[in-house]
Amino acid sequence: MLGQIFRYLKYRTKAKNRYKIHSPFAYGFLNNVLREKKYYDDFKILDSLTRELMESDKIIETVDYGAGGKGKEPVKYKTTLGKVAKRRSHPLKRLHLLYNLSAYLKPSTMLELGTAVGISSMYLKKPVPESKMITVEGCPVLASIARENFRKAGLKNIDVIAGNFDEVLDDVLQKFDKLDFVFFDGNHKKEPTLDYFNKCVEKSHPGTVFLFDDIHWSGEMEQAWERIKADERVSVTMDIFWFGFVFFRKGIAKQDFVVKY
Ligand SMILES: C[S@@+](CC[C@H](N)C(=O)[O-])C[C@H]1O[C@@H](n2cnc3c(N)ncnc32)[C@H](O)[C@@H]1O
Repeated sequence: MLGQIFRYLKYRTKAKNRYKIHSPFAYGFLNNVLREKKYYDDFKILDSLTRELMESDKIIETVDYGAGGKGKEPVKYKTTLGKVAKRRSHPLKRLHLLYNLSAYLKPSTMLELGTAVGISSMYLKKPVPESKMITVEGCPVLASIARENFRKAGLKNIDVIAGNFDEVLDDVLQKFDKLDFVFFDGNHKKEPTLDYFNKCVEKSHPGTVFLFDDIHWSGEMEQAWERIKADERVSVTMDIFWFGFVFFRKGIAKQDFVVKY
């Protein structure tokens, strides 16, 4: 906890409101995604479904495959759906950011690693109903709750794969010719994060965007983020503390933006 506060203060001292941005793409992204304040009609249904999930006192049995799980083996435990939804997903402000991102980029292919109950998947998918999306979750109970939520939100073309990323990612990647967008939102450990990154880069193209959750969550995650920023295939990165965006666009100078959010 103290470590995270320290890392947040470090981020705040570096973060800027304004940048001299020569790339029209980075400028557009900043204004249309990070600074966009528009309230879309879709937020009504998505926010109310999210609140309903976060307030649910239904008892479920789940496992946490991520760094949050105790010990090395994923541990099964009983809890309420509301607690899982709240602890594993994101506040509405960041969920709206995911929607803005998808509405702006209009990805036709999306992969998400870490579904939980499907909240972020819904915000990403809603603006691009025709896109193909696969989301992967280690806990089969959560995977089936997510499927039910997608049905309630009227979303089609989302496949939920229940399985450990380490075991299913190669097969999942075979289902895509190319990836326009990937959200890395599970297993916040350094080596697996870099492994998933390297595998997904194989399906990237200059317009692809990767989004990493919790890049400052731990020293390990910060090390992974440093390696990703330095990767020669990556051109621009944007750090808003909670999330790190990665771009592969060609013809622009390599630059890391630390943006106040
Ligand atoms: C932070 S939650 C995802 C939240 C979700 N994206 C949202 O915002 O609604 C991360 C999820 O990834 C799953 N996970 C973590 N590591 C995994 C692994 N190695 N294989 C499969 N699932 C994993 C966890 O079970 C957890 O439900």
